Amino acid sequence: MEEAVARPEARGRRGGGGGGEALKPVALGEVQAEAVARLSTGIGELDRVLGGGVVPGSLVLIGGSPGIGKSTLTTMALANLAAAGRRTLYVSAEESAAQIKLRAERLGSAAHALRIPTIAETDLAAVLATLERERPDVCVVDSVQTLHSAGLSGAPGSVGQVREVAGEIMRVAKTHAIAVLLVGHVTKEGALAGPRVLEHLVDCVLQFEGERERTYRTLRALKNRFGSTSEAGVFEMRQDGLVEVLDASARFVGEATRAPGSVVLAAMEGSRPLLVEVQALVAESDLEIPRRVVSGIDRNRLALVLAVLARHGGVGVGTSDVFVNVVGGVRVDEPGADLAIALAVASAARGVALTGSAGPDPDRTAEPPPLACFGELGLTGELRTVAHADRRIAESRKFGLTTVVTPEVGTLRAALRALRVERERSAERGRAVALR
Ligand code: TYD
Ligand code: MG
Repeated sequence: MEEAVARPEARGRRGGGGGGEALKPVALGEVQAEAVARLSTGIGELDRVLGGGVVPGSLVLIGGSPGIGKSTLTTMALANLAAAGRRTLYVSAEESAAQIKLRAERLGSAAHALRIPTIAETDLAAVLATLERERPDVCVVDSVQTLHSAGLSGAPGSVGQVREVAGEIMRVAKTHAIAVLLVGHVTKEGALAGPRVLEHLVDCVLQFEGERERTYRTLRALKNRFGSTSEAGVFEMRQDGLVEVLDASARFVGEATRAPGSVVLAAMEGSRPLLVEVQALVAESDLEIPRRVVSGIDRNRLALVLAVLARHGGVGVGTSDVFVNVVGGVRVDEPGADLAIALAVASAARGVALTGSAGPDPDRTAEPPPLACFGELGLTGELRTVAHADRRIAESRKFGLTTVVTPEVGTLRAALRALRVERERSAERGRAVALR
């Protein structure tokens, strides 16, 4: 499946002004595209998100909030590349060499990690000179916001500095075919001058997401000149580093509570289906403006879902506080999550647990499985189809979720009615009636 990618070229620029020399355009068919082999980072999920490994000479920006695991991930990648005989270099403008060593010692791949050539330096000129001399195959620069160009005014991390740092590193990297993993911090508010201003410059933008206190993290491509942007990987932060989670659906379904306010979302993480539990809590508020607290979903999305629920679903949460959480620290940023948010909130508001049908269980001893769902909510209360319905359903079935509420139900109200959530505070479990 490995497709050839063209080596990224340095796009040189001749002197400006009007006196430029006319160039002779070339038909694309005649362009010589030199195919290059990608370098495997030894981390399957990272390779997949990159489109099959690191492209030599490419610039990859890895963004994420502090503490999410960017340094851990990049150190692990370099350790594996070093173990595979590649020349590596770790540039830290953030931590001392001793701190980096302490991290490396914690990793499962510590033996290799400890052999990574490392410099702790914040001066851009020194870093560039080191790159020129060492010419590694792959280099990590941690982080773009803490390096500093003496030739420019402005504090490290300012827009001008960040542009200069990334631009200069790119120039050297393209000249010597050094692949660079550029780490960048994103604050929750996206306030810091950072990855945003670099997106057009770099070849790939990867976003590392999750809640710092929780174990699961997702890595996804926001931009990729050498691959798809629909790929995503799931990791777990353990004592000895990040571990790829290949059975994420099984874990999340296994941990799902089945209590009122809980529902399983059949999501898509890139081209892969992923089952995640969405939880909601609706509680009386003592505030004039009730709280709307989200984790793992977009706050505006919740506002929309609550409005549709009230207007078209007959479930108003008006003056109550509403909390919605995607369990495990996973982020789901897709319209297909709407229905899960709506059902979780309705289930919480009504105190009705949502579960699937018990299936062929004559003794009725086993607990009924959690209810799965997916679908986008339209502003008029209709359910809209989302991509990969079949794969979402198949994934749900695979993990024993007998009942999946899909957009085929038609409207949010129809879904709520079928699940018997419309009834007021019933102790009875709302069973889905053969929705699919
Ligand atoms: P880090 O990679 O330093 O995050 P970032 O570079 O994005 O700021 O690591 C984040 C957290 O992960 C840190 O608080 C400690 C924890 N951690 C582990 O739990 N296990 C480990 O093996 C390592 C290296 C870190
Ligand atoms: Mg770090």
